[in-house]
Amino acid sequence: MELRLGFIGFGNVARAFARILASRSSELARDFDLIVRTTAIATGSHGCIVSAEGLDLDLAVTTAESGGRLTALPGAIDADETTRVVAMCEADVLIETTPLNPIDGEPATEWIRKALLRRMSVVTANKGPIAFAYDELSALAREHGVSFRFEGTVMDGAPIFNLAEKCLPGVRIIALAGVLNSTTNYILTGMERGRSFEECIAEAKRMGVAEANADYDVDGWDAAVKIAALANVLMDANTNPRNVERRGIRYITSKDLEVASAAGAIVRLVARAEPLPSGLRLTVGPETVPISSPLGARGTTNALILRTDLMGEIAVIEADPGVEQTAYALLSDLINIHRDRKARGIIRRA
Ligand SMILES: NC(=O)c1ccc[n+]([C@@H]2O[C@H](COP(=O)([O-])OP(=O)(O)OC[C@H]3O[C@@H](n4cnc5c(N)ncnc54)[C@H](OP(=O)(O)O)[C@@H]3O)[C@@H](O)[C@H]2O)c1
Repeated sequence: MELRLGFIGFGNVARAFARILASRSSELARDFDLIVRTTAIATGSHGCIVSAEGLDLDLAVTTAESGGRLTALPGAIDADETTRVVAMCEADVLIETTPLNPIDGEPATEWIRKALLRRMSVVTANKGPIAFAYDELSALAREHGVSFRFEGTVMDGAPIFNLAEKCLPGVRIIALAGVLNSTTNYILTGMERGRSFEECIAEAKRMGVAEANADYDVDGWDAAVKIAALANVLMDANTNPRNVERRGIRYITSKDLEVASAAGAIVRLVARAEPLPSGLRLTVGPETVPISSPLGARGTTNALILRTDLMGEIAVIEADPGVEQTAYALLSDLINIHRDRKARGIIRRA
């Protein structure tokens, strides 16, 4: 059975996902009866194209990576800009991976809204739309009989939303605490080893871990967006990142780290969602945590502790994630959508 894919954003994550699709195509066909056809790709600077017949995804990857124009691909129709791609493309699932806008989640939220209205399912790795418009977008998806999935938005490919949805039905999540930003963790770990803040941030950029604008990591915006997204989905919070009390790691010094270390502790940027009598309190800030705590994660490792009513505390740790883990999250969302479509008898033969 065929799924037509449109890509909105074709950067590190989307291209890693495209590589997985290519390397696993026979397993996807054999194990899931899944064949994909790419019918649209929108980028910021490599062109915006559609093709009902289908595009050569491998060639699109090499073209984008060599700095070429996607409009040169065989069969490509120049759609000029992203909004037109969303309006024109013939796709069953849109894969949205444009950069985070931590101020209001736009323009990605608007593209997702338009795609859902056109009855396309959406998979996104961009946490902005979940942090700012989860309730609206998920309701829109339900009304239009399509799926909206976003496993890669928090902790890359580690199952967080799928864990809650599929493995913890009936469990109430009471509080959350997480080390959710790889870049700041990488910087703090590097500084503990005697490296400078600037060296560590340059390295995180080279590794493709830092956001396009690394200030979003360092000043706690990325973590604020993630805790708001988690609270919206897992705690029904209907909140947004503006409601998060936020401090970053810019003013943490090597001396602060030495003092923590002498006390058997470690400084980490911790995001929390805590219930108070006045409502849910969302915070992001540097905290001194015991080295033995799951929150004492090192390098790019992320950790999340879910405090629940029926299952006590559950910790999920994702050791040194890279872009492949986020790409896998897109694949797992795609497979879930495909299974759902098959279960509902929505069939498209290749
Ligand atoms: N990298 C990770 O490990 C990771 C992990 C979890 C979540 N995420 C999230 O996943 C998303 C993608 O991350 P990434 O690392 O792939 O970022 P990236 O490499 O910077 O790629 C972003 C893509 O979006 C495109 N883009 C920018 N403006 C656009 C526009 N107006 N219309 C269409 N496309 C546009 C860029 O095009 P040009 O290159 O042509 O400008 C590029 O193809 C982000 O929201 C990020 O927060 C990333």
